Amino acid sequence: AALKKYQFDVVVKNVSRLCHAKPIVTINGMFPGPTVYITEGDNVIINVTNYAQYNMSIHWHGLKQFRNGWADGPAYITQCPIQNGQSYAYNFTVTGQRGTLWWHAHILWLRATVYGAIVIMPKDRTFPFPQPYQEANLVLGEWWNEDVEEAVKQGNKLGLPPTMSDAHTINGKPGPLFPCSDKHTYALEVESGKTYLLRIINAALNDELFFTIAGHNMTVVEIDAVYVKPFTTNTLIIAPGQTTNVLVSADRSPGRYFIGARAFMDVPIAVDNKTAMAILQYKGVPNTVIPISPKLPAHNNTELVTSYTKNLKSLNTAKFPANVPLTIDRKLFYTIGLGQNACPMCLNGTKLTASLNNISFVMPKMGLLQAHYYNIKGVFTTDFPDRPMKAFNYTGAPLSANLRTNVGTRLSRVAFNSTVELVLQDTNLLSVESHPFHLHGYNFFVVGTGVGNFDEAKDPAKFNLVDPPERNTVGVPTGGWTAIRFRADNPGVWFMHCHLELHTMWGLKMAFVVENGKGPNESVLSPPADLPHC
Ligand code: C2O
Repeated sequence: AALKKYQFDVVVKNVSRLCHAKPIVTINGMFPGPTVYITEGDNVIINVTNYAQYNMSIHWHGLKQFRNGWADGPAYITQCPIQNGQSYAYNFTVTGQRGTLWWHAHILWLRATVYGAIVIMPKDRTFPFPQPYQEANLVLGEWWNEDVEEAVKQGNKLGLPPTMSDAHTINGKPGPLFPCSDKHTYALEVESGKTYLLRIINAALNDELFFTIAGHNMTVVEIDAVYVKPFTTNTLIIAPGQTTNVLVSADRSPGRYFIGARAFMDVPIAVDNKTAMAILQYKGVPNTVIPISPKLPAHNNTELVTSYTKNLKSLNTAKFPANVPLTIDRKLFYTIGLGQNACPMCLNGTKLTASLNNISFVMPKMGLLQAHYYNIKGVFTTDFPDRPMKAFNYTGAPLSANLRTNVGTRLSRVAFNSTVELVLQDTNLLSVESHPFHLHGYNFFVVGTGVGNFDEAKDPAKFNLVDPPERNTVGVPTGGWTAIRFRADNPGVWFMHCHLELHTMWGLKMAFVVENGKGPNESVLSPPADLPHC
């Protein structure tokens, strides 16, 4: 194991896309930001120095940070933000994880431009699949012509969402379907006959994305830094927060092939038809050759999403077992709702909200982990309900009584090392919608999913307890449910939220306090000396 050091300077830089130049917040002036390369077992120190006017904090999405929530990054959950002129060193060791993850700003909507890949090489440098010739990262994102924070502020004044992004991007570049973007097309050069490992990351703020490469099949080998049973597909679906590794062979006639990404939207509120494009370019083929176009699915192709998701299974070998908890100590059932609360300041007197078990999370004024560690009272309560106050027909006719959400900084206390099953149930309050849920501090097993209301009597019998996919972010289907299981073996305060930034902002989030009190391995490490203060 080695010590890997990175310096991340938070600096504002002028970047131009879609014929507009604007200042954006970046790391080291790069957009997307630098890739963090790690070998399993490494100690990593990433010193973040903030030269921008915005407060900053960075989350290493998918790293478990065992006992070390201090390095997790979500602002006001595990730390106070790094203010202008301050530095904070994220210091962590990567154990038992290898594969593709990513990092992003975890404050305001700054992850719109502050994000990058994390590549963790296996200790023995070998994969449980054929060794690729080379590899490449494809980070998918969104671009706004406006200043994103301004757009969010304007929206909040009206109690409405901000404007939709103006483009999707691949490695920061929208591609030829957008104005002034011919030069902003990412090209991946490949040699005929060779196989490549592509590390695909969805860093978009609000869109689940379809991803496809014209003429080429992809073999999915890993999701969220966990190996899966390989399967072949021509289209991926990937939600914000998720990563997918695929093998692609340059086995077609040498040419230029478009790589496309566009939104999956099964609720036709405002259809987003933007398609980001990059090019798979065979070596030796001149740039004048017109690339072959991909067949992207219809924006509302839910069937494809369902069938794709069914293919995801843990590799589950002796070396990489799927340790699914078989007995459950704690059963949780959380409804996901969109609602409307009074807002005297807003244009219509109401604002949109989002909630779990009808509770819209209120961000505290200091880090919850500090409050927990130093036992500071009055910052949060631990009375987050294990299930909704009242059962109702979740996906049936909306129950207007539930549209008004309660508010609070309410956490759920979970015993250290206990096993947890959580069913996330979408509801038809305002509208059904698909929600990618992310849990900090853990991977979980996705043991079941379905449409309609979860049936406690019948559905658990159909759970996959053998080789379910293990991940850190899962899509709860539109008008459906997803059941996850994990062992709470990582003490600390761990955030859980919808990875659609819009919904996070509206309150679709909560946190678990995983309690210990006993041996040193059951406690949180002591906080680093440079931990920012609020
Ligand atoms: Cu990738 Cu709490 O986020």
